Amino acid sequence: MKTNQLAQVALLLWVVTVAVLVWYLMRNRTAEDTDGRAAITLHPAERQVVLSEMHGLLVAAQGIMSGASRGDKMHIMAAAHAGGMASMSQADPALMAKLPLEYKALNMNVHHEMDEIAKAAGDGRPTAELLQMASDTMAKCVACHAEWRLRTSK
Ligand code: HEC
Repeated sequence: MKTNQLAQVALLLWVVTVAVLVWYLMRNRTAEDTDGRAAITLHPAERQVVLSEMHGLLVAAQGIMSGASRGDKMHIMAAAHAGGMASMSQADPALMAKLPLEYKALNMNVHHEMDEIAKAAGDGRPTAELLQMASDTMAKCVACHAEWRLRTSK
């Protein structure tokens, strides 16, 4: 085989590999559940990863409220930062592949906004503004919970 042909075969293989990978990542893996929410099927350990990330978000949200009630911006900053991008637990490729794109985008958005709240608190923005940001972010918790739930596979 000539080098040129080899290069063509290699290119074709590459295109096929990328296409399969894109299909694998994009395909819809959810099923509609009895209550109308889409169910994402995960292994029990993967579900645990998602739920512990959720606990972290709830702790962050409570910390923001608690800090805001006392006008303690350092507390708001620390609480929001703890729920920020650094706390995202989706590094596992198998788990990433199972979560719908829209889900991942919304989840990432919430973590990103936690970082924004931490930054705004650090910049000394008024408490009312920080609470408004937190409320807008929590509307996304509500939106996601209305749309998706988890189911476990054996
Ligand atoms: C992108 C989607 C998404 C976003 C955004 C999201 N969650 Fe969740 N959360 C879920 C899913 C899915 C579950 C599992 C629900 C089920 O299976 O019934 C869950 C479960 C939870 C639970 C229950 C944990 C348990 O042990 O059962 C808490 C608490 C929670 N989320 C808090 C939050 C808070 C607070 C926010 C926002 C700051 C948030 N979540 C944002 C998807 C999301």
